[in-house]
Amino acid sequence: MAQHSAPTGHERIETSNFLMIVLILITVAVGGIVEIVPLYFQRETTQPSEGVKPYTALQLAGRDVYVREGCYNCHSQMIRPFRSETLRYGPYSVAGEFVYDRPFQWGSKRTGPDLARVGGKYSDEWHRLHLIDPRALVPESNMPAYPWLEAAAIDPAELAPKMRALRTLGVPYSDDDIAKSAEAVTGKTELEAVVAYLQGLGLTRK
Ligand code: HEC
Repeated sequence: MAQHSAPTGHERIETSNFLMIVLILITVAVGGIVEIVPLYFQRETTQPSEGVKPYTALQLAGRDVYVREGCYNCHSQMIRPFRSETLRYGPYSVAGEFVYDRPFQWGSKRTGPDLARVGGKYSDEWHRLHLIDPRALVPESNMPAYPWLEAAAIDPAELAPKMRALRTLGVPYSDDDIAKSAEAVTGKTELEAVVAYLQGLGLTRK
């Protein structure tokens, strides 16, 4: 019968499930901390990049409609730093563009095109027609139609509490912005709000 000496050094780790699991967890935890913690302190990731402003009351209302309708299921808002992406969509996205996005709308599914820089690409009227009936403008489109957005009014009373909540998270809305929010969306439809939101996307790094 062959003689086996007791495992030493690396062999001891590799032959013990317990040691292996514990040491992997420690390694991953240290690596994670080293990579993640600095992001909370770097200007580049915590401060708005140049020209990035908080959403207006109308854009904010539109953003909520965007989230409610699940537009993110087909549209990402994150241009990756690859040539194929930047040639198609424009400058790649940077962290400072998303500091006021709560929650962010990066997404990963692209049934439709990325929307991170769609602002200013089309007229308001184009967006209006496209949302009511995508195939009227893009015959091969498989985007759903959203005709009800035109008939639904924004509730002006909803904006102030939303803006106050965002302010506690660090979005610099002034008392004046909040006081005028109801007036800014009075009489506006959900369709107008979504278009205002889309038209503001990605303008600062075009
Ligand atoms: C089922 C997937 C799907 C959903 C959900 C969807 N879209 Fe689309 N969207 C598409 C496709 C596909 C296109 C490309 C064809 C076209 O322009 O209609 C597109 C195109 C667009 C464009 C034009 C982009 C460009 O650069 O040409 C905009 C703007 C847009 N969608 C906004 C929205 C909004 C806002 C919502 C939610 C209210 C939404 N989409 C929901 C699939 C989707």
